[in-house]
Amino acid sequence: MLLLAIGIVLALAQGVQAGVTRHYNFTIQSHKVSKLCSTKHIISVNRKFPGPTIHLDEGDRVVVKVTNRVPHNMTIHWHGVRQLRSAWFDGPAYITQCPIQPNQTFTYNFTVTEQRGTLWWHAHINWLRATVHGAFIIHPKPGLGYPFPKPEKEVPLIFSEWWKSDVLKVVKQALGTGGGPNISDAFTINGKPGPLYNCSSQDVFVLNALPGKTYLLRLVNAVLNTELFFAIANHTLTVVEADAGYVKPFNTNVVVIAPGQTMNLLVTANQAPGRYFMAAHSYESGQNVTFDNTTVTAIFQYQQASSSSPPVLPPLPFFNDTKPVTAFNSKLRKLATPEDPIAVPQTVDQHLFFTVGLAVENCPPGASNKTCQGPNGGRFAASVNNITFTVPTTAILQAHYFNTPGVYSTDFPISPLVKFNYTGPSLKNLNSINGTRTKVAVLPYGANVELILQDTSIVTTESHPIHLHGYNFYVVGTGFGNYNSSLASTFNLVDPPERNTIGVPVGGWAALRFKTDNPGAWFMHCHLEIHQSWGLDAAFIVNNGKGPSQSLQPPPADLPKC
Ligand code: C2O
Repeated sequence: MLLLAIGIVLALAQGVQAGVTRHYNFTIQSHKVSKLCSTKHIISVNRKFPGPTIHLDEGDRVVVKVTNRVPHNMTIHWHGVRQLRSAWFDGPAYITQCPIQPNQTFTYNFTVTEQRGTLWWHAHINWLRATVHGAFIIHPKPGLGYPFPKPEKEVPLIFSEWWKSDVLKVVKQALGTGGGPNISDAFTINGKPGPLYNCSSQDVFVLNALPGKTYLLRLVNAVLNTELFFAIANHTLTVVEADAGYVKPFNTNVVVIAPGQTMNLLVTANQAPGRYFMAAHSYESGQNVTFDNTTVTAIFQYQQASSSSPPVLPPLPFFNDTKPVTAFNSKLRKLATPEDPIAVPQTVDQHLFFTVGLAVENCPPGASNKTCQGPNGGRFAASVNNITFTVPTTAILQAHYFNTPGVYSTDFPISPLVKFNYTGPSLKNLNSINGTRTKVAVLPYGANVELILQDTSIVTTESHPIHLHGYNFYVVGTGFGNYNSSLASTFNLVDPPERNTIGVPVGGWAALRFKTDNPGAWFMHCHLEIHQSWGLDAAFIVNNGKGPSQSLQPPPADLPKC
C-alpha cells in the first residue's frame, strides 16, 4: 500500500514536471482545390492546406493518430524534433518505419524536451509533402517567456510550392525521362499565392497590424525545390530564432530560408499606416537550372489603411545573388546565455567528410533516349561521397533493432573514395555508385562528430540545404572552394548557430559538429525534393550507449509492416 502510494505521488510529481499530453487526429484524404483558375485534387491532412498547426509546451507529449484514407503510402515526419530515444516516430519512409498503407493507421507518440520554437511536420514519402505539411510550435515551458519582448501576436507564415498539375505526376515524369522536373506554377504563403499571380487578387494572406505593435512571424519553408529570399516592404526584420534555436537578435532587410528551415522574426508596425507586401522569390544558385521565378506575396496591413491603396513591393536580391546569402548567414549566432546554454563539442572523436552534389548516370545500354533526357544524353542523379542512395525495401531501423540481415551494409565511406578538385572547373563526371544494397555509416554512442559537407561542381555547383534527422548540429564554419583541415583554426567554437538544416554554400563547404547522444537510424539528405529523389541522401546508425537512458526504446506495437 505504502509503495503504491509513493508510486502515485512520484507519478503525479513527474506528471507536473513532464507536461501534458496533446492528442491530435490526422486523417489523410484527398480534396478539391482551385488556385490560379485551375482545379485539382490534393492530398492533405483533415482537408486543410497547409495542414493543422500543432501547439505544445516544451516537455509535453504529442500523440498523433494518423489514418490513411488515400490510395498512396504515407508517413509523417516531425522535422527538427529530436526524437530522443524515440526514433520509431521520426517518420522517413524505409529509414525509421515502413509506410502507413491505405486504410491503415499509425500513432506517433513522443515527448519534446530541450527544444522550443518553430518547427514543422510533413509527409516523408515520395513528393507528398508538397501538400501534406504544417507548423509544429513548441512554446516555452509554462512560466518561461521569450528572450525578447512579448509580441502582440504570433503568426505562422508557411511557404509552399504549387503545381497546377498533380505533383506525383511531376516527379514521376522527371524520374521517367531522367531530366529535370517541370517547374511549379506558383509559391504560396499559408496556402495563398497573392495578387501577382493570375486569378489570385483575392487569394492572398493578410496580416492585420496595429500601429506601433510588434509581431512574431514564424516562417516555415515547406517549398519543394528552391531556397527563398523574403522581405517586407519598408520594414526592418529582427531575426530571433532559426530552426527552433534562439539567436542573438539582429536586424536585416532580407532573410534567406532554405526548404526545411524555420525562422522567427519580429516586425514592428512603425511605418506610415498603409499596406505593405511581404514577398518572397527563389534563391537559385545552380547554373543552367530552370526554376520558378515568380513572386509570392502576402499583405502586412495597418488597421487604418484604406484597402484601395496598392501595396508597396520590397526589393529582393537577384535570383542567383549569393552575397546577401553569405552576409545573412554570417550574422546567425546562438544566443548562448545561461538560460540558453551552448554545448558545441570542443574536441572531435570522429571526422566525417561528405561530398554532396549532382551526378549523371550514363544512359543504360539499349534504353530509349526518351528516358535519358538529362545532361549529355544521360540521366540526372545525385550522391553523397559519390554514392547514390538506394532506398531499402524494409526500414533500416527495424533491420537494425531486430538484426535482420541483408537490408543494408555498414560500409558507407566516411570520406570520398576518390579525391579530386571538388569545386574545380569542367569536372568530368564521376559515375556515381548506385548499388543494389543500402549503405549506412555506423557511429558509436557519445562521440563528438565533425561533419564537413563539401559541395561539388559535377553538373553544377549549387547550394544544397542538407537536413540531419535526430540531431541539431552547430555550424562551426562555412566557406567557398574546397575545405582543408587548416581551415579548422577559423571555426567559431563560442556561439555558432544550432540548426537542423544547413544551406551548404554554393561551390563551398560547411563544418558541423554534434554529439551522438541519440541512438537510432537517422536520415541525412538534401531538402530540395528532386535532389532527394535523385539520391542525395545518406543514413547513419547510432548505436546504443550504456543502460536504458542511452538506448533506443522498444518499437510500438502498431509499427507498420512493409
Ligand atoms: Cu524535413 Cu527528412 O525532412
